[in-house]
This record gives sequence, C-alpha cells and structure tokens, in this order.
Amino acid sequence: MVSSTDNQPRRPERIAVTGAGDIGLPTAAGFADLGYDVSCVDTNPEKLARLASGIVDLHEPHLQDLVQRGISTRRLRFSTNGIAATRDASIVFICVPTPQGDDGSADLSYVEGAISTIAPVVRPGTIIVTRSTVPVGTADRLRDLIGRNDVHVASNPEFLREGSAVADFFHPDRILIGASETVVRRRLGELYDVFGAPVIITDIATAELTKHAANAFLATRLSFVNAMANICEAAGADVHQMMRVVGLDPRIGPKFLAAGPGWGGSCLPKDTRALAYVARQLGEPFEQLEVTVSSNERQFNRVVRRLSDHLCGSCRNRRIAVWGLAFKAGTNDLRDSPSLAVCRRLLAEGAHVTGYDPAVTAPQVKHLGVDYADTSIGACFGADALVILTEWPEFSEVDPSDVASAMTGDVVFDTRNVLDTNAWISAGLRLVTVGRGSPDPKKSSVNASAA
Ligand code: UDX
Repeated sequence: MVSSTDNQPRRPERIAVTGAGDIGLPTAAGFADLGYDVSCVDTNPEKLARLASGIVDLHEPHLQDLVQRGISTRRLRFSTNGIAATRDASIVFICVPTPQGDDGSADLSYVEGAISTIAPVVRPGTIIVTRSTVPVGTADRLRDLIGRNDVHVASNPEFLREGSAVADFFHPDRILIGASETVVRRRLGELYDVFGAPVIITDIATAELTKHAANAFLATRLSFVNAMANICEAAGADVHQMMRVVGLDPRIGPKFLAAGPGWGGSCLPKDTRALAYVARQLGEPFEQLEVTVSSNERQFNRVVRRLSDHLCGSCRNRRIAVWGLAFKAGTNDLRDSPSLAVCRRLLAEGAHVTGYDPAVTAPQVKHLGVDYADTSIGACFGADALVILTEWPEFSEVDPSDVASAMTGDVVFDTRNVLDTNAWISAGLRLVTVGRGSPDPKKSSVNASAA
C-alpha cells in the first residue's frame, strides 16, 4: 500500500509539521516517505522521544512502519524546538488541536501559539498551511497574527479517517487547497501531484468551510439512516435492505449507510457542532444541522431505553456487558465514542457495566466507572444483557453458546448488526437489532392495544 521512495532524490520543499498527533504524524511520515525532508514538532518530549526511537502509540495501521522508515532514511526528524525545526522550512503544516467549547466555538490558542512561535523566524516565501480543521476566517486571523507580507498563508484540510489514515494519505479521494496566490497554489499542488487524485484549488474561506461541510454532510446522512432505522423498527421493516436499494442509486452511493447506536469520533461530532456555531455567528442558523446533532443524542438515549424495555423497564442494578468501547472498529479512540455515550447513560441509570474492546485498555475507561474485562466472554459472566456497540469483526466470530453459558440473562442487543441473527437465537438468546423490526415490548403493546 505504501510506496517507499528510498532511492529517490530529495525533493526541493523542506517541510515542517507542528503537532505529532493523529493528523500531524501521518502527514509528516507520509511526506517523508514521498522523499521530502520533514521536521515534526511537538511540545510533548516523552512522546517525541518514543517517536524518535520508532515507537508510535497511536492505533493506526502502517504508521509505525512509515515512521521507522522515515527515521532510517533520515528524512523524518522529531523536535520540541519549534523555532529550530521551522527556521529552514519552506512549507509549515499546522496540525495542532483545536479544542471545542460547549457552544461549538473553536479554541485556536494552540494554533495561534504555534504561529506566534514560528512567525518571526520562518524564511521569506514560506507557506504556513492550516491542516487542522479550523473555522472559516481563521486564515485571515493568522495572517494578522503573522504580520509579515513575505510569508504566505493557505489551507489544506485533511480527510484522513482514523484506522486508515496512512492509506488515505497515499490514496486520497481528493486534495483540497485553499490559497489566493498562484505560486502558493502551484507549490502546494506539486506536493500532491504524485497521487493522481483530483486537486481542487479554492479560495481559503471555501477550503476552510468545505471540511466542515463534508463531515456535516456525512453526519446528516447517518442521522437520516438512523431515523429510518427507528421507523423500520416501528413498522416491522428492514433498514438494511432499504439502504441497499437506496445506495444503488449512483447519486447516493452505497457507503456510509449503516444504521447504528449513533455516530461519533473525533471529527463528526466536533465538526457538526462547529459548523452549526459558525452558521449562527454568520447570522445563517443551520437548523437542519442542529437537529442532526440533537437527534444523535436521542439515538444514544434510545439504545438505553430499548435495553430497559427488554429488562422489564429498568437497567437499575442490572449487570450489562458491553462489547466495543472505541468509536468505531479499527481504532482505540474513545473521543465522542457512541459506546461511551451509552455506557454513561447506563451508569446514570444505576447499571453495572463491564466493557471489553480489542484495542482499548483498562486504564482508558477506569475513570468512567466501567469495569474492564480482558476477553469478550469475560465481560459476559453474570450479565443480564449484552450490548454490542462497536463493529469489531471478531465479535461475529464468538460462539453464541459460550455467551449464553456465561450470561445470567438472555438479552443481546446488537446495535451494529454484526451478529448472525439465526445462530444467536438458536443459542437461546433474545436478539435485539437496530432497524430490523425486532420485537420491541413497548411498541408491541402499543401496536396490540391500537389493533
Ligand atoms: C471522519 C471522516 O470520515 C473523515 O473524512 C474525516 O477526515 C475525519 O472524520 P472518522 O472520524 O475516522 O472519519 O470516522 P468515520 O469512519 O467517518 O466514522 C464516524 C462515525 O460514524 C463512527 O462512529 C462510525 O461508527 C459511524 N458510522 C460510519 C456509522 O454509524 N455508519 C456508517 O455507515 C459509517
């Protein structure tokens, strides 16, 4: 998947990347692998020491190999000294966090801190590029902060998905560059020529806003699918068959149509709230997006309500096993994880929750009050109910009779629809699914009394 360029001559641009996180590190290591000299800056000396010895703590396939290759070819260096690392750079990517306030506003203090450090020292002609997701108008603020006419500002939002960030870097669907000067557009475009992907050049405001639009669109799509799943449950229809048909329309496409417990992660929730905030600030409230956000919260509530319905009306003092804690399979990231949203609600109802996840570790969830089991079956011992909240493939391989033997109760709520329904029902378990018209006690009684 990753094409090493060990024998290629070094490329002319010298790149610095500030922030060695889930965006900065694949960006730095990816450009080093393409043949550029890259300095990666971070303020955390322990993290950098581990990176410098080739150890990557992020759960990101192929990233450690890529970093090790960058180190061995001497194209990738790590430093805590932002000034030294950027002084000789011709392009600086800003990949530091932009934490979010409760109202959806972005805290740009890390971005501004990084810019303040490097602005006085970078060479004339340097391009400073925001790659972190920032609100529209940020580049203008940064230009004022930099206060130099001989330094360029641009936007190059990333579209890297967690768990496939390296593959996404080397095989992008599209590259988006927001820049006003022709020379900047050309130089940034040349970085990505090698991929053969469409390179779309826009003004900076369009690029900044497009990143939010892309993720808000995906989130809205998922909320639509989840709403249809809820309607299917009430109507006795099947959302999977429905979305298969819907997705065969080439205007819609088959991806991102799986119903679930609600969507999460480090980007979709943050970017939807951010765009809703920006829209309000601009005097153009985005009501549909606000509903997308609030309906996702209701989807988490719905998981707990349906589980309670199957446990005689309450989760209080019930032992609930949870399979999957990460926000999606293939990552150990708990940021805005739908699973944790559900776990918090279960704990608030007085349930005892024992979780298992193939990639998440016990210390990551200890502070939440979730007990941790080392195996999927271990989580099920004595449980009244099992809830599957992340779509790890290994869950579909567990023998349902082992689960039935371990559990005290018989309710299994598969919110990701990863289990083989017939096999699990045959093992004597009561399988509840999402969007498949599975018997819902409350709904059934409403339907029965209405009939
Ligand atoms: C997202 C965007 O996809 C990526 O382009 C952007 O750069 C960063 O944000 P990521 O956060 O890694 O990527 O996760 P993604 O794969 O998009 O999934 C987001 C959430 O949607 C997860 O909770 C996932 O489980 C959920 N999801 C996804 C569904 O519920 N159903 C689906 O069909 C797809």
